Amino acid sequence: MEVTDTPTEKIKLANIPNGTSVNPIKHIQLMMKDARAFMNQKHQKLGQVWEDKILGQRMIYVNDPAFIKHIFAKNRNNYKRTKNIEILKMGLGNGLVTSDGELWQNQRKLMQPAFHAQNLIKLFDVMAAEIESFMKELEAKRGTEIDFHREFMDITGRVVFKAMFSDEPAQSVASFYDIMVEGQRYLTKVIRNPLAKYWYALNGETKKFKQRKQRGEDALLHSVNKRKASKVKKPDLLQMLLDATYEDSNEYMSERQLLDELVTIFAAGHETSSNALTWTMYLLDKHPEVIEKLRKEINEVTPDKLPGYEELKKMPYLQQVIDESMRIYPPVWLVTREAIDEDEFAGVKINAEDIVLLCIYSLHHDASIYTNPETFNPDRFADGMNKKYSKNLSYFPFGGGPRKCIGFMFATMEIRLILVALLQKFDFKINPDQKVEMEALITMQPKYGMKAQLI
Ligand code: HEM
Repeated sequence: MEVTDTPTEKIKLANIPNGTSVNPIKHIQLMMKDARAFMNQKHQKLGQVWEDKILGQRMIYVNDPAFIKHIFAKNRNNYKRTKNIEILKMGLGNGLVTSDGELWQNQRKLMQPAFHAQNLIKLFDVMAAEIESFMKELEAKRGTEIDFHREFMDITGRVVFKAMFSDEPAQSVASFYDIMVEGQRYLTKVIRNPLAKYWYALNGETKKFKQRKQRGEDALLHSVNKRKASKVKKPDLLQMLLDATYEDSNEYMSERQLLDELVTIFAAGHETSSNALTWTMYLLDKHPEVIEKLRKEINEVTPDKLPGYEELKKMPYLQQVIDESMRIYPPVWLVTREAIDEDEFAGVKINAEDIVLLCIYSLHHDASIYTNPETFNPDRFADGMNKKYSKNLSYFPFGGGPRKCIGFMFATMEIRLILVALLQKFDFKINPDQKVEMEALITMQPKYGMKAQLI
């Protein structure tokens, strides 16, 4: 398929289709039950751009690459986080994910260098060491039933924690991790059902959440202060964030802001990678021919030890497999924004306070962009096609424009390393008797986990 950069002819119309159902209750019910399936069905029926109105709120569903580019990049200053972000702020404070405007801009500028390739090389050894010790633990589970999703949540949590606090012992990782997981569980329940927060305020869940959050922050602060007092500089994210100063004032990040950013990095950086890994194993299990081709590539580069940073670049098929997996199962399936002021694209009028929804899942499954979109075919991304699709935003698992995922290089490095380590050491079989379903909350997880056996 030719990847182009021009607005789609189809949306050159002022009146975009209205997908509001005759029965508004039914409409909301369908949306609440499975928003991903709902949006995807509407997309297939109504086209790449359509709108609806729920309780007086106009929503515009944008799945046209050029329109997406307009929102992400060309007129990005007109779009901010939606009001739902307030729920996430209960857990993440005002870190990169939840902030907007000047605060976001200053933080992004300050933190961006820590995620540049030359700094990620410094994190490579920490990452590889954690993955190797994880593989030893998996060795002890060979032949037993494991849940890939739980295992990957564990390793990606450990990797991102160690990338921040390279000198903290495994024990600290485990206790911080438990606090975060519990916190995320609470927030997910509130996001899924906004009325739940009133009940949780009464039954004590909210209090417990706040206490846990405080315990997590106290633990983080303890580690931060230990590091500040130490004369030794570590090659990790915490050190980079402690040493970074704002361009204008030359000042360091405040303690409050640093804590919010550390929690944000942990939260944004492990469930997503874990989903990508789990769905990749699911797809690989169904495609032994892809595993064979992958193993051939791995054997040619490094048959029995983890690849180094440069060696990873010699494995293009590995990258294609991951890209194709994130096309079919994008770990973050939806990105939303609220319009600040009026806007227009290709005749489509957007009013202030309209919500725009960019459904990564629907776009990645659009048959006018991808031939046989439901087929797992890593070869569609051969010869640099993955870069072309990304450039014009026909493929955007990491978002786009200046708010594109800050951790995307970190994630792809980590996911590639874990996959190589697994395929070098194990064969595997996904349990064929289980129910596998997508659950699209903030991220897209396998609803019932992913039971498997390592052989
Ligand atoms: C496969 C793994 C990952 C996927 C699919 C993913 C996806 C995304 C997406 C789609 C966004 C943009 C959301 C928006 O525009 O509203 C985002 C933002 C972000 N991601 Fe990731 N992410 C992944 C891994 C990571 C990792 C490993 C980290 C950190 C180590 C991370 C940290 C962040 C942060 C801090 C933001 C907010 C950036 C900003 O607004 O400036 N992510 N991610």
